[in-house]
Amino acid sequence: MERLFRWQTRNETQAAGKRLGNLLQAGDVIALIGDLGTGKTTLTKGIAHGMGIRGMVQSPTFTLVQEYRGNPPLFHCDPYRLEGAEDLVLLGFEEYFERGGVVIMEWADKVESLLPTDRLTLTLTFAEATEDFGEDAPRLCRAVPGGTRSLALLLAWQGEIDASSE
Ligand SMILES: Nc1ncnc2c1ncn2[C@@H]1O[C@H](COP(=O)(O)OP(=O)(O)O)[C@@H](O)[C@H]1O
Ligand SMILES: [Mg+2]
Repeated sequence: MERLFRWQTRNETQAAGKRLGNLLQAGDVIALIGDLGTGKTTLTKGIAHGMGIRGMVQSPTFTLVQEYRGNPPLFHCDPYRLEGAEDLVLLGFEEYFERGGVVIMEWADKVESLLPTDRLTLTLTFAEATEDFGEDAPRLCRAVPGGTRSLALLLAWQGEIDASSE
C-alpha cells in the first residue's frame, strides 16, 4: 500500500503538511527521506503549523533535535551530520519515542534500524529537474505506512487532501 502526492509549489507542500499535522497524535512517527532541497524541512514547517505549534521551525542540522512545546510536543530530528543509527543511540535519542510526542525524522534512511515499524515514511523527490532550489517547482511524495496506525493516518490524510481539492 502506498500513495503518491504531487505538490506544485512550496505553499502546496506546506498546506499538505498542515493537514497531516492536524491529524497527528502522541506516538506518531514520520520518517522523511529525500535529497537536500526536496522539501523535508518545508513539509515539517507545515506539519508543525498543523499541530498548532507557532514559532519558527528551522532545520535542526546543528542541534540534531529541536523540541517544540505543544499538545502533543514535536521532536524534529535531523541526523544529516551523523554516521548512522549508532550515533543516535549514543546520543540517547530513543528516549524521544517514549516521551509521548510526535517524532519527525529527516534522513530517516540513515537511521532506519532505530525507528518503530509503525511509522509513516514519506519519500520526497524533485518531479522535474530543478536548478534553483528556491524556485517553486513540483515535488513528488511517496507515502508508505508501516503499520495499522500509520495506515489509518495516511488514509485520513488522503481524505483531507481529496476533500480540499473538490
Ligand atoms: N513544491 C515545493 N515543495 C517544497 N519546497 C519547495 C517546493 N518548490 C520549491 N521549494 C523550495 O525548495 C527548498 C526546499 O528546502 P528544504 O525544505 O530545506 O529541503 P530539505 O529539508 O529536504 O533539504 C526551499 O527553498 C523551498 O522554498
Ligand atoms: Mg532539511
